[in-house]
Amino acid sequence: MYSTPSHKMPVKTTTAKNFSTISLPLMRRMAFLSFILIALAFIASRPAAAQDVEKGEKLFARCQVCHVLEPEGRKIGPSLYGVFGRTSGTVEGFAYSKAMQDAGIVWSEDTISAYLENPRTYIPGNRMAFPGLRKEEDRADLIAYLKSATGS
Ligand code: HEC
Repeated sequence: MYSTPSHKMPVKTTTAKNFSTISLPLMRRMAFLSFILIALAFIASRPAAAQDVEKGEKLFARCQVCHVLEPEGRKIGPSLYGVFGRTSGTVEGFAYSKAMQDAGIVWSEDTISAYLENPRTYIPGNRMAFPGLRKEEDRADLIAYLKSATGS
């Protein structure tokens, strides 16, 4: 009487095991497929980064009135060629304000972003007549463009 159910149990387990061994390759295939999908999503997101540089180039129109990107030449502002890693106020021959010369800021993604957010408060007394780029995304796009276009 008692042996019958315990006999049946292993049979049931085997069936369950069989079922899971059948579904395992399927699950692997699904995992592989989702891996492919994630990889594709990554590849698809790449052109978006390139677009940011394009957006940055468009935003640079606001700076272009006053800045060149080539090593030679200047406008109302100094050339921005090689600006990343440069100390503020050090382009030879450019008549900077005393505030800019005294600031001693090393230009990097972070310091340029902070300056562009609000030029007047970041370096009080500097002469760059630019109201600022308040959107963080705009500054990031512009800086991505500057990095690609200033010889850094
Ligand atoms: C109306 C003219 C004008 C515009 C527009 C302008 N700038 Fe300037 N910029 C200047 C001047 C002038 C200075 C020097 C300020 C000083 O000496 O106080 C300067 C300085 C700078 C510096 C520091 C350079 C150094 O050698 O230390 C950076 C970086 C800079 N500008 C980036 C930008 C960017 C990026 C934009 C566009 C979002 C921009 N500027 C828009 C006139 C301008």
